[in-house]
Amino acid sequence: MSTALGARAYPESFAAFWHPVAFSSELKERPLPARLLDTDLVVWRTGSGVAATQRYCAHRGADLCGGAPVAEGLRCAFHGWTYGQDGRCVRIPSQPAGAPIPERARLASYPATERYGLVWVCLATGPAAPLPEWPELEDGSLATVPLPLLDWDVSAGRMVEIVLDVAHLSWVHDGTFGNPQQQEVPAYDVERLPGGLRAQITYPALSPSIGGAPPRVDRTTLTYEVTLPFTVRLHFKPTLFYTHTVYAVASPCSEEKMRCFYFASYHPKIRNFADMFVKSELAILEQDRRIAEGQRPKAHPLDFAGEVHVRADRLPIEYRRAVAALRLGHPVDGPGLE
Ligand code: FES
Ligand SMILES: [Fe+2]
Repeated sequence: MSTALGARAYPESFAAFWHPVAFSSELKERPLPARLLDTDLVVWRTGSGVAATQRYCAHRGADLCGGAPVAEGLRCAFHGWTYGQDGRCVRIPSQPAGAPIPERARLASYPATERYGLVWVCLATGPAAPLPEWPELEDGSLATVPLPLLDWDVSAGRMVEIVLDVAHLSWVHDGTFGNPQQQEVPAYDVERLPGGLRAQITYPALSPSIGGAPPRVDRTTLTYEVTLPFTVRLHFKPTLFYTHTVYAVASPCSEEKMRCFYFASYHPKIRNFADMFVKSELAILEQDRRIAEGQRPKAHPLDFAGEVHVRADRLPIEYRRAVAALRLGHPVDGPGLE
């Protein structure tokens, strides 16, 4: 596998990107654990925002998720050592007042921020790319609805590929929205964007039969927009159902496991959208999960020679080219692997 020889280690390849570690709505008073690129983190709210550090206390390795956010930072439950958001220990209660704090009493700390209802962490000092730009989520015109966290035994790259996979719709999603009559995938274009990809297709989705009536074909325009490395915004413009947008952000816990933060935006006047979306999308994603968890190799392949590619796979292929470029430290716009 000569092409993969120059690849950087998986965590190193993606450390300098922002990845979500929690929905904002779930990060309350209690700190939360997260695992990102083989690193265990604790995430907590500070007076002014959010903070992320290594999960285990520098003193005796206690789990800081059991600690408490206080005015000075995060206080460990074992002996009360308290760490600021820069990871430095600021208080050791067992020491007399004014005693120096050992230099090594510190935690690794990471940049953390909040946007789009998510808490994002970057494991490098400075992010290599900005967060995705989703202005429609910030002007107050849309409502959003999250799905429960998707903890799948799947690599983040394979998760993104199944979201981008056009040819599977008629097979895997039979019974939810897939149309078994539509097996051929018409040619479509994939556009390179700065830091991502874009493609659009039209799909004759099949809405389930209601009350014994035959299922109806809902010609749906699907616009896929990828922000590298693991984020997809997928806009649905059906003819029968409501226009909405799905956001799927796969957070890489390790090379073979991801946690996907998945939510939708929709017009707030559609009263029953949230319930309908959660129910139908969970059924759709369960169909995907069964396929994706069974794929081998589990790691997202870097080498194109190990699988066979056809024209319908163009979008996942272009995505894989871009991810392979990141792994190899090449410009994403450079020549892909063949
Ligand atoms: S283990 Fe955290 S304060 Fe001792
Ligand atoms: Fe799918």
